Amino acid sequence: MKEKIEKLKKEKNAAILTHYYAPAEAQAVADYVGDSFYLAKVAKQISADIIVFCGVSFMGESAKILNPEKKVLMPDLTADCPMAHMVAEGRIEQMRREYDDLAVVCYINSTAEIKCKSDVCVTSSNAIKIVRSLPNKNIFFIPDRNLGRYVAEQVPEKNIIVNDGCCPIHAAITVEQLQKVKLEHPNAPILIHPECEPELLTISDFIGSTAEIIDYAKNSSQTEFIVCTEDGVDYQLVTDNPDKKFFYPTPHPCCRDMKLNTMEAILSVLEKEDKEVIVEKSVIDGALRPLDRMLELAR
Ligand code: 13P
Ligand code: SF4
Repeated sequence: MKEKIEKLKKEKNAAILTHYYAPAEAQAVADYVGDSFYLAKVAKQISADIIVFCGVSFMGESAKILNPEKKVLMPDLTADCPMAHMVAEGRIEQMRREYDDLAVVCYINSTAEIKCKSDVCVTSSNAIKIVRSLPNKNIFFIPDRNLGRYVAEQVPEKNIIVNDGCCPIHAAITVEQLQKVKLEHPNAPILIHPECEPELLTISDFIGSTAEIIDYAKNSSQTEFIVCTEDGVDYQLVTDNPDKKFFYPTPHPCCRDMKLNTMEAILSVLEKEDKEVIVEKSVIDGALRPLDRMLELAR
């Protein structure tokens, strides 16, 4: 299957972009693997005619919005992020009425329609920098309460109101689960994603996006790590550090939508070109503004 995929990629001038949470085989056949921010930057600049996005719908949508001339395909169009739907447009309008100088800061894990109503997008690797750089005092952070609360702690000079959404995978990890794995490996530092609940961040050693967690483990002289995020990152961690050990809370945090990006689905979509991401022109125009502003402010 890998050979067939490679052949089709060449014939069709297609590139595969894969998120770290996708299955190992989808990372192994990818031309670009990374966190949400890296993949958005790649999508914006890529010269390939076809982008096959192994991620979830907001990622495919963002790729299409950032580079509308390209044909963007997803191995499974039903792969979605529940958090992307956890803020209501009416709530944004209500907040705008309450605060004159409000900036609506939208985590990229959101629908394109919600991005249209926002002032700037962020990802977990650039949220602090971007929020700090905004002229506005009042910020409505959507949809993730946990990333929002983490940013609020790091940028105390802003008045950050958070929307009550969350990632069901990260929010389900409990303090007890994390303490149990720490007890089993007391010398291993805890590397955690900011989508986890604040009580878990408090007992962790490093907080960062998937790419930042992977970089941290690679550059550290320590040999054992507790990784508190979706277990797809294990492929890159083990590839980069064959002599280091990585432990996860039990049960392993696993995003079933990300795991829909199987080899079979990648091959099929490359063959048939049938699962295309379609975004209306007016939505592209509306959502491009906050996405481009993110790329500008994160630079
Ligand atoms: P990052 O890749 O930005 O760390 O995002 C995590 C995530 O949940 C993507 O869905
Ligand atoms: Fe969404 Fe969570 Fe899955 Fe990321 S891990 S795509 S935030 S459900």
